[in-house]
This record gives sequence, C-alpha cells and structure tokens, in this order.
Amino acid sequence: MIIAPSLLSADFGNLQSELEALEHAGVEWAHWDVMDGAFVPNITLGPLIIKRLRQTSRLVFDVHLMIKEPERYLGEFADAGADMLVVHQEACLHLQRTLAEIRRLGMRCGVALNPATPLCALDYVLDEHLDMVLIMSVNPGFGGQSFLPASLRKVRELKRLITERGLSTLIQVDGGVQPENSRQLVEAGADVLVSGSAFFNYPPYASRLQAFKDAVRCK
Ligand code: DX5
Ligand code: ZN
Repeated sequence: MIIAPSLLSADFGNLQSELEALEHAGVEWAHWDVMDGAFVPNITLGPLIIKRLRQTSRLVFDVHLMIKEPERYLGEFADAGADMLVVHQEACLHLQRTLAEIRRLGMRCGVALNPATPLCALDYVLDEHLDMVLIMSVNPGFGGQSFLPASLRKVRELKRLITERGLSTLIQVDGGVQPENSRQLVEAGADVLVSGSAFFNYPPYASRLQAFKDAVRCK
C-alpha cells in the first residue's frame, strides 16, 4: 500500500521544502493535482512548476490531470519529469490514443474515473498496458471534501475485474481518504491512497504516514 500525499493541501509558498519534508518522512509518491478551471472549477499549477520542483526531488511524481484535452500537454508533462501521468476518461475523446502516447513518451499511464462514470468505460483499454486506474471518491476540483461511500463498491468491482483478467494494474483512490477509511479501501483492493487535507493538516508527516500505515495493518 502506497500513500501519495496530494500537494494540493501543502503550503504553496514553500513547495520545495514541503517535498523535502515528505521525503524525510519516508513518503515515496507525491500526487500533483493539475486543474484548468474548465474541466473542474478550480485552477492550480502546471508543468513549469512541476519541472522546477523535479530538479530537487526524488519522489515519484504522480500527476493527476484534471484538464480538458490533456493530449495537448503530454509532451510538456513528460519534459517536466512526471513519472505517472493520469488523464480523466471524461476528458479524452480518443482515450486509447492518449494512453499510447503517454507510454511512448516514457511515462507510466493511468486513467481517472469521476464518481458517476461506470467501470465499463475502461472495458476496452484495461487489457492493454494500463498502469493504474484512479477511482475518484469525490467530485474532482477541491480538497477537503467528504468521501463518497459508493466508491468502495467501485474499488471492489475493479479489483475483481483486474484479478479475473490476470492484470497487475494498480488501483488508486483519491478524495476524502483518511486513516479512518483506509483499511476498508485496502481490503477492497486499493493499492495507492491519495490524501490531501487528512495528511497535510496533521504534521509531523512521519507520524501521519505511520498513522495511515497502522490503520491499514490493524486487521
Ligand atoms: C481532488 C483532488 C485530490 C484532492 C484530495 O480534485 O484530485 O487529489 O487533493 O484532497 P482530500 O484528501 O483533502 O480530499
Ligand atoms: Zn488528485
């Protein structure tokens, strides 16, 4: 199980030191929320900032694109040093082509599904080399929202599909994740838990990371 803190809840005035603090705390992945004010009603940051921070961080950069027409920016995010690039199914007119292009650019690829989007939207791309599926457990756009309970069933059903097809696709869950619901999520099949407000609002980060790990372990 991987905890990927979402920098959306970090101190935007000190992103470099926030990344250093995460690394010292033992975190392995950093989750970047890229929003364009069109696909979602919020604007955050883009490839220029990520590229600058890539220079000083060894964390896995997991980049979640909440933008329209993500295919226009794949090269820029590859150049910025994204390790994992996740696009929304709802934002891609030619999803298969976009995923192939992400891989061609040397990144791992993922697809995110909004809460109302069914798993069958991925039926014909799941068997290809898809590294991760991101199940949104809130409507994307803002941190600090409440976890939508139906997401748990979605994770369970996706895990069953992945197992049935003999795949090794990771399942990531994003939105309203906290230690209190982490155990259920991991039991349902989640591999990567994104946490923004429930992580950054509870420093020190090493103890918070431990709280997530303990919550998952105490079965
Ligand atoms: C929401 C973002 C999330 C968000 C999660 O649109 O994709 O990554 O930062 O924040 P919390 O954990 O506070 O719900
Ligand atoms: Zn996210």
